[in-house]
Amino acid sequence: ANMNKKFNVPRGTSDILPREVVTWQYVEKEARQLLHNYGYNEIRTPIFEESDLFARSVGQTSDIVQKQMLKLSSQGAADPSSLQKDPLSLRPEGTASIVRAYIQNNFDRLERLSKFFYIGPMFRGERPQKGRLRQFHQIGAEAIGPESCSPYLDAEIIALSVAILKAVGLSDFNLKLNSLGDKADKNNFSEYLKNELKPNFDNLCFNCQQRYYQNVFRVLDCKNRDCQAIVDGLDIHDAHLSDKSKEYFKEVRGALDTLKVSYEISPKLVRGLDYYTHTVFEISAPSLGSQDALGAGGRYSNLVSQLGGPDVDAVGFALGIERILLAMPKGDVEAGKLNVFIIALDEKSFLKAFALLHQLRDADVSGDMSYRISSMKSQMRLANKKGAGHVIILGEAEMQKGEVTIKNMESGDQAVESINNIKTIKNIILNQ
Ligand code: HAM
Repeated sequence: ANMNKKFNVPRGTSDILPREVVTWQYVEKEARQLLHNYGYNEIRTPIFEESDLFARSVGQTSDIVQKQMLKLSSQGAADPSSLQKDPLSLRPEGTASIVRAYIQNNFDRLERLSKFFYIGPMFRGERPQKGRLRQFHQIGAEAIGPESCSPYLDAEIIALSVAILKAVGLSDFNLKLNSLGDKADKNNFSEYLKNELKPNFDNLCFNCQQRYYQNVFRVLDCKNRDCQAIVDGLDIHDAHLSDKSKEYFKEVRGALDTLKVSYEISPKLVRGLDYYTHTVFEISAPSLGSQDALGAGGRYSNLVSQLGGPDVDAVGFALGIERILLAMPKGDVEAGKLNVFIIALDEKSFLKAFALLHQLRDADVSGDMSYRISSMKSQMRLANKKGAGHVIILGEAEMQKGEVTIKNMESGDQAVESINNIKTIKNIILNQ
């Protein structure tokens, strides 16, 4: 082994550095506020689950399950004495875990409608590129329960995802909307597509020829040019939908119109995850290039019962935080600034300065100092770099009188105060 090897982050992951975290926190704060306003409560589930959970929800034939699952091969799991005998995977998305938690905790007996949200990392072993990572982060919401089957809830979920994007300053995005209908409608749709594609079967790419049999919907978002040309030639409309499903979709659109959320009907939008029924939507930002989906979601009427839970409906969405950050106007968020920087000018005053900093921090004043004594000039430079609102100077003269000099970095105003008068010092620093 090369003992001098330098380590880098694994491919497709990235460090979120302190200067970037400020923007992350801003996005999360805006999202949390809105999620709260809409009545969604935070839930935190593990970042790994049994692999089967994802196979049975996202779908055995989906790209995610076929190619992108990051499986854990820990010794603990391989050990025959281990409690965990089933293979585990890092979660590729949030919905399956939330439904698992909903069922496991019997939420249907607690309330008629459960509204959850989550913010956290997801993992997919994709080929990394701009906007596509192996560890990425989602802000998601799921409304699940016996009373979750209302077109107004579909509209609410869509409106909420749009509201979050707008709250962080995004406006240049498109919302695509479609309805897959219920299970029977989806089967009709699948049969219809197979019929329409049959004459062109030999011209489909190898993958799509398999998709044709396994999950024909996947052909619709194949990136192969020949396949796209074939798909473009298809006449897809809402003939696969029952009258009831058409009526439901009409109500969803009406509710969105009421909320003045604009959308574009997109009959070819089917989504890459298997659990969807009825409403599906995707929000994309043209400025992002090939990975342009900011977020997506839809209704999943059968997933809860499919995973062994009660027969209840659900609807949800997830936004990709990295994509949001790529699309956001730059330079709006200010870095976290300190209230005060304390400058000790010599060894003698250092200990007093150190103790004063501790007292101020205890009193909820944010502050820092240098643990190496250097010139006034260089410490002032440091204070500026930290964006300190005030500077406290402690030198020989101050020490003798038991005082400190407090300087307002913006106005240049100076005040002298007794070093023991923490309350007054705090008030000056916080401009109170
Ligand atoms: P999804 O479309 O797979 O849906 O992902 C939602 C969003 O997560 C995408 O639109 C994108 O912004 C972001 N995203 C996905 N993969 C990556 C990646 N490799 N790198 C960066 N960002 C990525 C879901 O995950 C569903 N669970 C949404 C949902 C919730 N449906 C109902 N409830």
